[in-house]
Amino acid sequence: MERIIITGALGQIGTELTLKLRDIYGEENVLPTDIKKPESSALKGKTFEILDIRDADRLSELVTAFKPDTIMHMAALLSATCEKDPKLAWDINMGGLINALEVARNHNLKFFTPSSIGAFGPSTPKENTPQVTIQRPTSMYGVNKVSGELLCDYYFSKFGVDTRGVRFPGLISHVKEPGGGTTDYAVEIFFEAVKNGRYTSYIDKNTNMDMMYMDDAVDAIIQLMEADADRLENRNAFNVTAMSINPEMVANEIRKHIPGFKLEYDVDPIRQGIAESWPNVIDSTEAVKQWDFNPQYNLAKMTEIMLQAIRNKQ
Ligand code: NAD
Ligand code: SER
Repeated sequence: MERIIITGALGQIGTELTLKLRDIYGEENVLPTDIKKPESSALKGKTFEILDIRDADRLSELVTAFKPDTIMHMAALLSATCEKDPKLAWDINMGGLINALEVARNHNLKFFTPSSIGAFGPSTPKENTPQVTIQRPTSMYGVNKVSGELLCDYYFSKFGVDTRGVRFPGLISHVKEPGGGTTDYAVEIFFEAVKNGRYTSYIDKNTNMDMMYMDDAVDAIIQLMEADADRLENRNAFNVTAMSINPEMVANEIRKHIPGFKLEYDVDPIRQGIAESWPNVIDSTEAVKQWDFNPQYNLAKMTEIMLQAIRNKQ
């Protein structure tokens, strides 16, 4: 990878991914794009282009002008947002994906896009979910993610596009707020702990979901994209996770730093339903074996960093 264009770059992942890629590959070699302007973003003031991923011609023009060798496609609607407008979700998530894949095919670009634990469903084995297993998701987001994984594999086998992807768990970070997912509670809880010393969770007590700290997520993307293609038996998409946690576990960890922290519940049936349809813990063995996936943050280390970073912001 030498020169990278990013779609959906103002999002939770795209913001930190852009910053890290610019550190490694040089500012002039990374072009972030998004449907909106970077007004209050960490990316404000630097090179940036507006792009609605549904506009294939505009994407093609930007690629022709910038001449990247890689496209990282982050533009999407997340799980809770998809349930509010499933047709719009299909248009952006699937229409956007095929536009990005076509541009990769026509301009010979390497291609990365994230799938999700949302690509699994209630009939998937819930514990140590294998890399290759039953995928019958019941959310619109899940339908998009499974279709997306298959479409990326198809572009690799049919057209030789170098497509790679991971199934991210919930991602926890403090630079940019999450964009409407089921796992957002695991970010909000840290901000509310610092601000108000309490949090009301819309996810129920004992609901475990996989999670990862954003630094590990960004490193995983770069590691996979730089991995030797000969080592990759799978492509779209690798299971990756660093921890399987529930709200009580996060609260107990927070209490080691904020002893009076109070956790209450007001469960949202939509997001709880989605969470219950996802695995409790997925198995990342294939990512470790095929491209040395090696997350550095567990719940304790991440909690310390999240609380400190949020205090510093305030
Ligand atoms: P996000 O919602 O924070 O960011 C998505 C970005 O896409 C936003 O900046 C938004 O403005 C942009 N966008 C929306 N519609 C667009 C359009 N039509 N054209 C161009 N841009 C558009 O999401 P994220 O968390 O950064 O997720 C990025 C990718 O990673 C998505 O595919 C998501 O499904 C996947 N993922 C995220 C997580 C997570 O926990 N954050 C977990 C698993 C997978
Ligand atoms: N964080 C994402 C969501 O909840 C997982 O894909 O939608």
